[in-house]
Amino acid sequence: MVSLDKIKQANSTLKSYGPGLVGVFVGGTSGIGEATARSFVRHAVSPRIYLIGRNEAQASKIIADFKALNPESTTTFLKCEVSLLKNVDEVCTEIQKEEKVHVLLFTSGSMPSRKRDESAEGLDKTLALHYYARMRFIANLLPQLTAAASPIEGEGERQGETKPGLASAISVLEPGGEGEMIRDDLSLKTHYSLSNARTHAITMTRLSLSHLATSNPTVSFTHSFPGVVRTGIIRDMGLAVRLAIRALWVLARPWMVTVAESGERHLYAAVGLKSDGGAGTAGEKAHLVGADSEPRGNWGVLERYQAEGMGEVVWGHTEDVFREVCG
Ligand SMILES: NC(=O)c1ccc[n+]([C@@H]2O[C@H](COP(=O)([O-])OP(=O)(O)OC[C@H]3O[C@@H](n4cnc5c(N)ncnc54)[C@H](OP(=O)(O)O)[C@@H]3O)[C@@H](O)[C@H]2O)c1
Repeated sequence: MVSLDKIKQANSTLKSYGPGLVGVFVGGTSGIGEATARSFVRHAVSPRIYLIGRNEAQASKIIADFKALNPESTTTFLKCEVSLLKNVDEVCTEIQKEEKVHVLLFTSGSMPSRKRDESAEGLDKTLALHYYARMRFIANLLPQLTAAASPIEGEGERQGETKPGLASAISVLEPGGEGEMIRDDLSLKTHYSLSNARTHAITMTRLSLSHLATSNPTVSFTHSFPGVVRTGIIRDMGLAVRLAIRALWVLARPWMVTVAESGERHLYAAVGLKSDGGAGTAGEKAHLVGADSEPRGNWGVLERYQAEGMGEVVWGHTEDVFREVCG
């Protein structure tokens, strides 16, 4: 387990990257995304933050909070139903006005539904939210991430030296849950089930992030499992399910991660994990981490998929979906 002290120490080095860092928090209006954005605001010098979600009232409260926490920060809310890829493109047009994006965090998610719930774009909404939209953001913002990775001048004793810039994309879902996919129906048009939706989103995330990490070696890509964190994730569930999960949260208290700690750990995933390849299996380029910030993955399945070239297959499928939906 990486200790919280070590994590806070690493996060405090954010200042050394200088003023004007840009953080994009897709799902930043609640829970883990909000907590990570808060840590970013606390540790960075004059940062610019983009919060993306649907809840305008909640975003206004957070913006006021962030201003009080760091008066030199600027926070912008971009309202967006993220499960639609065309909306993602629209919101990215705003963010692309920035020359660089240093931290891109995805926590936009909900409890998956039992039945396939198709969006106007023909994708299952949960799969779109947890996988396709996140990859679309990355594909659109790769130039900004790459620019952020360019070397910067050292300070103080390190003056005259350079160090790599900060450029990190992190998807919060569930590394370790990778499994067998239905190869001829990756978007689960005819094979949808709760368990398939979970396995496909998780496994495709890992394969695509590793593929992207290989072709963009200066940017750090991470798939993270937050553990059990008490957030707003159950807000759309029925009353009975909400009560059952609250009861489980009480029982799970000894193992739970507070939302504030989760925020620090996800900022650490951006600041502390470099672009030089993730820990775990040989050839793994993306980082896969658990709630303790240590490596976490179903390595057997991943090694086999890696050997079979499934990363290219999944990324090719993802680009086909982008072409079909966005033209
Ligand atoms: N909490 C846990 O114990 C846990 C465990 C394992 C994995 N995870 C994963 O961690 C991620 C973050 O979860 P969390 O616990 O922080 O949940 P949360 O508090 O519910 O936050 C989810 C965020 O996603 C946004 N969002 C949801 N649906 C959206 C949509 N259709 N369009 C735009 N934004 C949308 C919400 O914003 P608006 O309300 O403004 O739309 C909110 O900011 C999720 O992917 C979840 O699956 C969480």
